[in-house]
Amino acid sequence: MSGRAKRAEPAARQEARDLRQRAEALGPWFQNIDLGHGVLTAPDHFLGDYPAFKFRRFADALPADLAGGSVLDIGCNAGFYSIEMKRRGAGRVIGIDSDERYLAQARLASEALGFADIEYRRLSVYDVAALGERFDLVIFMGVLYHLRHPLLALDLIREHVAGGRMLFQTMQQGSDAVFTPPADHPFHKPGTFDPPDYFDEPGYPKLHFIEREFAGDWSNWWAPNAAASQAMLRAAGFAIEAQPEAEVYLCRVAEVPYAEMGAAAVYPARSQQGEQDA
Ligand SMILES: C[S@@+](CC[C@H](N)C(=O)[O-])C[C@H]1O[C@@H](n2cnc3c(N)ncnc32)[C@H](O)[C@@H]1O
Repeated sequence: MSGRAKRAEPAARQEARDLRQRAEALGPWFQNIDLGHGVLTAPDHFLGDYPAFKFRRFADALPADLAGGSVLDIGCNAGFYSIEMKRRGAGRVIGIDSDERYLAQARLASEALGFADIEYRRLSVYDVAALGERFDLVIFMGVLYHLRHPLLALDLIREHVAGGRMLFQTMQQGSDAVFTPPADHPFHKPGTFDPPDYFDEPGYPKLHFIEREFAGDWSNWWAPNAAASQAMLRAAGFAIEAQPEAEVYLCRVAEVPYAEMGAAAVYPARSQQGEQDA
């Protein structure tokens, strides 16, 4: 050891070093978040500065001031959107995700950025009923195509937690055209035994099933085309208010189609419960 006294590390530098170490211990990160002190969580993300660059494309579609409204961020990952909603003046914000490691990242990012009051819970989208409350804004970004039961997830969100708006994003594949099928149609083309040909329209709502991996990710199960994203949102009881980006939709809760046909037409689980109660 040299005779010179070792000088104390400046507090700010030590804080940055600690933060970097804590972030690295929780890696790898999917969301690149600037934690301050020069610490970026995923600077080499394959999509670039994700999701900040994506958010910039549709950020103006949301109110600049959320005026204390409540937010539920489903599939919150490292908390990027939860934190952004706090920055916009949201009140109660809850982020849920099925992956505990992502939730630990979200807690660290929120603490580092001064939003430690965001609540993060391990909860699947299929279990949102357990929250027992509705939210002014539900964020459901980048999750639908990872689910084996995407329409069920939308139904459950609509039935249990959506109380106003929903910001929704999904990967889309196929045509961007939107073909509106007739309200009803005979089984065959009139006067023939031929099937109707609109199913082969590029813009007919199609949910492509991905049996194998997509982009090296086995957890991609579905890729709707634009028409299918829109039709599924409507079928679950959401009206599309804006499409600020090709795969991003701002929706508002609306009537659930066919709800007047009884619970069995919309929510089978509830109707079975009703039958048991009867
Ligand atoms: C592609 S990331 C999207 C993250 C973030 N919402 C965004 O847009 O940047 C998908 C996230 O959904 C979460 N997820 C997957 N299945 C889920 C489920 N059943 N319930 C809740 N979260 C789920 C994953 O753990 C992951 O954090």
